[in-house]
Amino acid sequence: MPAVSFQGVAKTYPSAKGALRALDGVSFDIEPGEFFGLLGPNGAGKTTLISILAGLAQASEGRVKVMGHDVAIDFAAARHALGIVPQELVFDPFFTVREALRIQSGYFGIRHNDDWIDELLAGLGLTDKAGANMRQLSGGMKRRVLVAQALVHKPPVIVLDEPTAGVDVELRQTLWQFIAGLNRKGHTVLLTTHYLEEAEALCGRIAMLKSGRIVALDRTANLLAATKGSMLRFKTDDALPPDLAGQARVTGRIAQIATRDANGVEATLARLRESGVRIEDLEIGRADLEDVFLSIMQNAGKAEVAR
Ligand SMILES: Nc1ncnc2c1ncn2[C@@H]1O[C@H](COP(=O)(O)OP(=O)(O)OP(=O)(O)O)[C@@H](O)[C@H]1O
Ligand SMILES: [Mg+2]
Repeated sequence: MPAVSFQGVAKTYPSAKGALRALDGVSFDIEPGEFFGLLGPNGAGKTTLISILAGLAQASEGRVKVMGHDVAIDFAAARHALGIVPQELVFDPFFTVREALRIQSGYFGIRHNDDWIDELLAGLGLTDKAGANMRQLSGGMKRRVLVAQALVHKPPVIVLDEPTAGVDVELRQTLWQFIAGLNRKGHTVLLTTHYLEEAEALCGRIAMLKSGRIVALDRTANLLAATKGSMLRFKTDDALPPDLAGQARVTGRIAQIATRDANGVEATLARLRESGVRIEDLEIGRADLEDVFLSIMQNAGKAEVAR
């Protein structure tokens, strides 16, 4: 039995310009114990899919099951099997951190939960904030509390919707250590993130969503292996010639150009020299998940235009 199963899930929102198809027939399973990544650009439908999983939104078509429980038919059992860290920061400003966690435990019918609450607070670096009021916390700390809240009932399936947005480097590491520890103990994890290096490091399998459709789904290693070739990274203050600019990824002074093989590296360097582009700090590396993601999204875009 899969831990999570999406079968033909569609979601249509009414909108001024006619219906918006936020999800358009999404089907895949997540097996127990997997660390699964759901990636996609803004508006792809990730949060919509998670809201349906959480029972916060209704699918227009299709079925969703958690540990065998249909979320539409057997909501309570499905919800019990899930711990959800929402993308939006929602909290009650009147409670302390510990109170918020006790209330959440009560919601799942768990009375004496302080040992586990203490473990959660320690694991998420919140011990010294246990007595603080929710409204006195910084944004990153509130997000840690949301993670703790999602885990009070030790759910077999943990869903994290961009848990590291706005979170500092140190906490990201603490958080991933903690979540990876739970995953090793057998908890299934579903993660959405825009930090692709996190997804690459953590997720065994990855699905990519675009405009409500799955455009790629494979083991992370296979996705990475599919884009062979090397990536040239360097710094420059000069403008790239148009032919190279079209295929380069530029972030400030840093440019990255994908090449197919060693000949491609040589040809690109020759072209740079010939056009008078001065480069510094040249590195030649393998393509990473960000390169794979961009190439899949571009190709999916072309397919859509062709349709
Ligand atoms: N309650 C709603 N009513 C109408 N449209 C909605 C609603 N929620 C989401 N949408 C639309 O559905 C589409 C998918 O949104 P969704 O929030 O699922 O994207 P996402 O993949 O989570 O994006 P992001 O990376 O920005 O979080 C978008 O076009 C969005 O505008
Ligand atoms: Mg979202």
